[in-house]
Amino acid sequence: MIFKIRYPKSNIRSDIGFRISDFEYCDTGYSLHSPYIRRSKSYPIMKQDKILIIGAGGQIGTVLTAALRDAFGEQHVIASDLRPLENQAGPSEVLNALDAKALAELVKKHSITQIYHLAAILSAKGEADPMKSWEINMGSLFNVFETARNLSIQKVFYPSSIAVFGREAAPRNTPQFEVLIPETVYGISKVAGENWANYYFRRYGLDVRSVRYPGIIGYQSMPGGGTTDYAVDIYHCAVKNQPFECFLQENTPLPMIYMDDAIRGTIELMNAPAEQVKVRTSYNLAGMTFTPKEIAESIKKEIPEFQISYKPDFRQAIADSWPGSIDDSTARADWGWKPAYDLDGMTRDMLLQLKKQYLK
Ligand SMILES: NC(=O)c1ccc[n+]([C@@H]2O[C@H](COP(=O)([O-])OP(=O)(O)OC[C@H]3O[C@@H](n4cnc5c(N)ncnc54)[C@H](O)[C@@H]3O)[C@@H](O)[C@H]2O)c1
Repeated sequence: MIFKIRYPKSNIRSDIGFRISDFEYCDTGYSLHSPYIRRSKSYPIMKQDKILIIGAGGQIGTVLTAALRDAFGEQHVIASDLRPLENQAGPSEVLNALDAKALAELVKKHSITQIYHLAAILSAKGEADPMKSWEINMGSLFNVFETARNLSIQKVFYPSSIAVFGREAAPRNTPQFEVLIPETVYGISKVAGENWANYYFRRYGLDVRSVRYPGIIGYQSMPGGGTTDYAVDIYHCAVKNQPFECFLQENTPLPMIYMDDAIRGTIELMNAPAEQVKVRTSYNLAGMTFTPKEIAESIKKEIPEFQISYKPDFRQAIADSWPGSIDDSTARADWGWKPAYDLDGMTRDMLLQLKKQYLK
């Protein structure tokens, strides 16, 4: 079976972009093609792959589960989370990733070959209880890595974050290999997690792949307690014709990415030949950079009466410790990463999709 892509919609900026909904099957093989990858070669996806997603009910997991089911088949992707997941097109399980025994049993039960470990306590929420956040973020990660090693899992995806950077890092165009002194427990856990990923790869040959996501913006799901959540909430307010109060100052630039790009980048990294994945800590992944004022201006191009005010809270200090933009040239060179959406393209699509949702 070939997993191929219908060509992009007009509101994305580059010639390589596509949306998750643009995937389709045909029956002459079983490979992932993107317009970008097609220029070089296609990469085999094993028909027998069985994927476990941990934290599948969250902002990213909701969308990634659907995308992977499109690519691998509904029965080949097992969605799991702390609570039962509703409206699932494929199998789902309740799993606390802190329970190593339950995780191992689930891997055996479904003959899992790949794990996407998304469960974590995010930056803003994590500061409410640092010790508990550390326990969840690191405890679940060790369970995943040990289970993967002991049960011969072929590939693991572990998302890191721009939260690994702190004030000592270059504040703009932050390089791939930079000093990492994060100021949140979340950031500390991601730095540690990246280094453990590298350790498991070098010591045990476990094929762990990782990207440092910027703030992710999508219409399909709500964010779970990060410092960039405002950039999702703002679109919901705009569509509902409500004024928006932003918890960051107007001139706070942060790296962001549209959900479609983030999901595509994730799947492209996971399907790249192993020898192209040279960074085994985590790749910088960039989409766009904007301030709250700039996203509001972008919305006003579509909804001129939209209003924004600013009331910074504790999340301002977290945002101030992060870079305003990151350099993802290593990901571009190693496995061909290229984002498709810019701010105005994302705004048009977010408003369009959310209007449809609120009209239902
Ligand atoms: N969303 C972003 O902007 C962003 C940016 C950078 C990195 N990331 C990373 O991507 C991953 C997913 O992020 P998200 O935004 O979807 O987070 P989210 O908070 O929306 O979802 C996390 C999910 O994990 C589940 N979970 C929590 N503890 C669990 C446990 N012990 N066992 C099983 N499930 C558990 C939660 O119920 C939730 O559904 C996280 O590792 C996060 O650090 C996200």
